[in-house]
Amino acid sequence: MKSIKELVKELTLEEKISMIHGAEFFKTKGVKRLGIPPIVFSDGPAGVRQDFEPDAWNPIGDGSDKVSWLPSNTCIASSWDTDLAYQAGKILGEETRGRGKDMILAPGVNIKRTPLCGRNFEYMSEDPFLTASIAAPLIRGIQKSDVSACVKHFALNNQELERMSVEAVVDERTLYEIYLPAFEACTRACEDTQTMDNTPNLASHSLAVMASYNQYDNSYVCENKTLLHDILREKWGYDGIVVSDWGGVHSTVPTAENSLDIEMSVTPDFDDYYFAKPLLEAVKKGDVSESVIDEKVKRILLFMERLHMLDGKRQSGCYNTPEHQKGILEIAENSVVLLKNETNHLPLSLTGKRVAVIGDNAVRSHASGGGSSEINALFDISPLLGLKMECGDNTEILYAKGYYIDNEEKVLGEVDWQADSLAVDYSIPDNKKRFTEEILPKRKELLTEAVALAKTCDEVIFFGGLNHAYDVEGFDRPDMKLPYGQDELIEALAEANANLTVVLINGSPVEMPWKNRVHSLLQTSYNGMNGGAALAHVLVGKVNPSGHLAETYPVSLEDSPAHTLGEYPGEKTDADSHRKTNYGEGIFVGYRYFVSKEKEVAFPFGHGLSYTTFAYDNLRTGKNRLDNNTEFTFSITLKNTGKVAGKEVVQLYVGQKDAPVIRPAYELKAFQKVSVEAGEETELSLTLDAHAFAYYDVSAGCYTAKKGTYRIFIGSSSSDIRLQTEVTLDTDYPFKTLFL
Ligand code: BGC
Repeated sequence: MKSIKELVKELTLEEKISMIHGAEFFKTKGVKRLGIPPIVFSDGPAGVRQDFEPDAWNPIGDGSDKVSWLPSNTCIASSWDTDLAYQAGKILGEETRGRGKDMILAPGVNIKRTPLCGRNFEYMSEDPFLTASIAAPLIRGIQKSDVSACVKHFALNNQELERMSVEAVVDERTLYEIYLPAFEACTRACEDTQTMDNTPNLASHSLAVMASYNQYDNSYVCENKTLLHDILREKWGYDGIVVSDWGGVHSTVPTAENSLDIEMSVTPDFDDYYFAKPLLEAVKKGDVSESVIDEKVKRILLFMERLHMLDGKRQSGCYNTPEHQKGILEIAENSVVLLKNETNHLPLSLTGKRVAVIGDNAVRSHASGGGSSEINALFDISPLLGLKMECGDNTEILYAKGYYIDNEEKVLGEVDWQADSLAVDYSIPDNKKRFTEEILPKRKELLTEAVALAKTCDEVIFFGGLNHAYDVEGFDRPDMKLPYGQDELIEALAEANANLTVVLINGSPVEMPWKNRVHSLLQTSYNGMNGGAALAHVLVGKVNPSGHLAETYPVSLEDSPAHTLGEYPGEKTDADSHRKTNYGEGIFVGYRYFVSKEKEVAFPFGHGLSYTTFAYDNLRTGKNRLDNNTEFTFSITLKNTGKVAGKEVVQLYVGQKDAPVIRPAYELKAFQKVSVEAGEETELSLTLDAHAFAYYDVSAGCYTAKKGTYRIFIGSSSSDIRLQTEVTLDTDYPFKTLFL
């Protein structure tokens, strides 16, 4: 096999250029004469996307692209289970390879800055530590199968509104503390490595990064020197490949010179892409040095070596296996969040009962919506099907739709969605007349029917929330309310039958004006092909819920930090300029804001109940001074004080006393999900090193953990703190990066 150096030498300039831009929507060109294959991409992140024609957004449609549908990233993060995150990645990697792809465009690790962001369901959390902790094992799992992950969208792609041009205006400290850490964790070394090209063990970092559409510091990310070159390449030492988001490149020379390796887009004029003919000409004219192209090609060849694309030793992968389906069920079961169980009405005993199942989300399949994360699911167990499968004929289950959805055909399943994705305005026309004359009467009719049914039943289970008309790429939601008149319907159902259980399926928080009237409340996101079965298992108590929220549910949108300050959706200075969004809330994103301001929330970050209860006790602290670090161990005794086995997510938050700069009251720095049998207790330890105490010191240009006293809070959510202690750091520690 030829070395990378030899290959680069033998490649002509034209061949090199052909390797660094799309030659199809999801494929680059290979160089056959030298045995260099093309790179084949696919979305991501909920499974391997359906196949399209090479140059038209028409699905090939031969049925062989049906795949396993995985729970959304929001779901996976709500499990707070790093082993399950690895399992999810492993399934995704095997299916990616099984479907003959080289790179899966996943996971999405952008921070959920506003509840309105249409792609929140593809992201993990409002917290960088939780995001990093879930994303890193997920990527390791993917890359086990000789395929690459592609961590996206780097960086500051936190809203969909005008995502192609919006500029994120963010201060340096906020950038480093909130928006970069997850990307850093995913692009730096982790354990479980495979060595390649005799370089140090960096191979289990994401082998690819996607540069986002938006702008930062007045330039598009794809050509942004600070983000792509200074931070990613120089500071983090990243040697993987950087791919543009599809249509995210806006120039030839600045983009070529600032570290982007591959340009992809959504239009079929492949030869005219900035990295095609225009770049060839720029090199010939001497505007770009050929060595710049060589660097990109070297990184692509290194990527191929790492995936065994050149040596014939690559694994084959597999898809739609029973093991994948089983794993997906387990992830879904572990991610369901029990928000309320005030009267201990859950779990339900349904045998011999007459049960009303109400709501469009009881029967809707969400797999094929959402934008580029759509997939062609092999099957999809809806909540109604899941319940019927679980209960059999000893339970009478009756269904009513409950709320009317208009325009569903337009928003979902639109074949040409991606072809139009570079367009600026996707708004659906607001038609008030149609609303009052057509939609409202239909809503009323369905509500009346549902309430009538609810009155005749022993139990009522409502499945509502959002769908991919709202949780969708390219749009932000107009508000944080439940659509389709669901608030009114839930109130009416609560009035009609005291035995009401509400199950929300959503990728982002919703307001719940009816919260005090509903005693039994569950939440999940788009939870994969066995999602309905998972929900049924939780509802009847076959599975004890153990998911915890990976984001705060504010009481109302106006409470949420970016909205309180009026910093969303940003402004345009004049009609021709691009929108600028000032991240004025700074580091006070999500719970960092709510706990620091002691502001009421509907449900706090980290919240999740169980059918059992846990007692936290006996906090012990160990301190170990190392050469360039200090390590603390916090051990506790956790007792299951209820009648059934269950899993608890023990969370550790750190806050600095008398901090030299403004800091949040406390921040998540460790967690562990543990399983405990009824009546049993277990010992568990959480470890921190000095990185956990650091903030980003702008004047020093690095993270610093300052000498001083720190408060440690251990609990079951960001507002349910059960144990506290204090520790001291005896010296200052500067760190170049937050994790290593
Ligand atoms: C999305 C990416 C996606 C790409 C390819 C873009 O519109 O932002 O997340 O991977 O399309 O489908």
